[in-house]
Amino acid sequence: MDYAATGQEALSRIAEASDLDTLEALRVEFLGKQGSISGLLKTLGKLDPEARKVEGPKIHGLRESVSDALAARKDALETAALDARLADETIDLSLPAPEAPRGTVHPISQVMDEIAEIFADLGFSVATGPEIEDDWHNFTALNMPESHPARAMHDTFYFPDRDAQNREMLLRTHTSPVQMRTMLQQGAPLRIIAPGRVYRSDSDATHTPMFHQVEGLVIDKQVHLGHLKWTLETFLKAFFEREDIVLRLRPSYFPFTEPSVEADIGFTLIDGKRVIGGDPSKGEGGWMEVLGSGMVNRRVIEFAGLDPNEWQGFAFGIGIDRLAMLKYGMDDLRAFFDGDVRWLSHYGFSALDVPTLSGGVGTPA
Ligand code: DAH
Repeated sequence: MDYAATGQEALSRIAEASDLDTLEALRVEFLGKQGSISGLLKTLGKLDPEARKVEGPKIHGLRESVSDALAARKDALETAALDARLADETIDLSLPAPEAPRGTVHPISQVMDEIAEIFADLGFSVATGPEIEDDWHNFTALNMPESHPARAMHDTFYFPDRDAQNREMLLRTHTSPVQMRTMLQQGAPLRIIAPGRVYRSDSDATHTPMFHQVEGLVIDKQVHLGHLKWTLETFLKAFFEREDIVLRLRPSYFPFTEPSVEADIGFTLIDGKRVIGGDPSKGEGGWMEVLGSGMVNRRVIEFAGLDPNEWQGFAFGIGIDRLAMLKYGMDDLRAFFDGDVRWLSHYGFSALDVPTLSGGVGTPA
């Protein structure tokens, strides 16, 4: 029997199939269980061996050419469908930007990026922790047991319920619990900063119930107070983009550091305005407190599961809002959180002003 005509007809119908559904119907018609070519294949079994030798290759050849044609046509139809979609779904990226771009980067976000950029250059990575904390991470592990008087200074917002481990839950009052979380997770050595929101029940012109801090922590072998002082000075010079930054360290007390120091930054008076920089002991000006710091208390290192005879470190906590006000000249902290678009369009930053060490961390607003 000659299958050429059957084959010809099948191939031309496949070539004419204009969509995938039609093609699928043809596949079923020829090669499906009840298909015509499948039917021919079944006849082979009933033939005597001699006839099978002759007919077999022909039927198989037919099946193969039809199946190849189906695959090729399917490929072509799919490519055409994709091309049509691509042509249909174009976006015109050449649309001009709006003349007056709306929306600005909040000074706090900008300053956090500036801080991260400067510390990244010193080899610090950014760590994070939850704003809803438990009292173990926020207080106990930082050497403030339940009866510690320093707890009372934190004006803490507590939640009514305890967590599964029966710990009191609270809004973190500082970024210091991230120290503990990072040491527990990553061990030592360590070099991190942890910027973020903190909460205290306090509100006036210089205090808001939510504000921002950045924590710093270095844990290594043979770390000493000199490293801390150099790090703070280097950071503040880069942040304020002035070489004449003068730092004054004062002895202080924090339960989680020993010894503890508070750092003041010198300002000078220019036309009655406070300008960061210069040495106040040599002229008109004064000192402004900008951060707390110290050598990490041995007890804290123990709470983190590390051996304090092997590992030491320093830590610091900086008020971000205060730094932003000093650098960019805002005088009321509360305006930071009012969401007033006029304030934001005046003090905000363009989304394109990404702080970089080469381009300058503090591009003027
Ligand atoms: N956690 C302190 C606060 O909120 C600030 C602070 C002081 C952080 C000394 C530190 C530190 O890491 O070493 O007032």
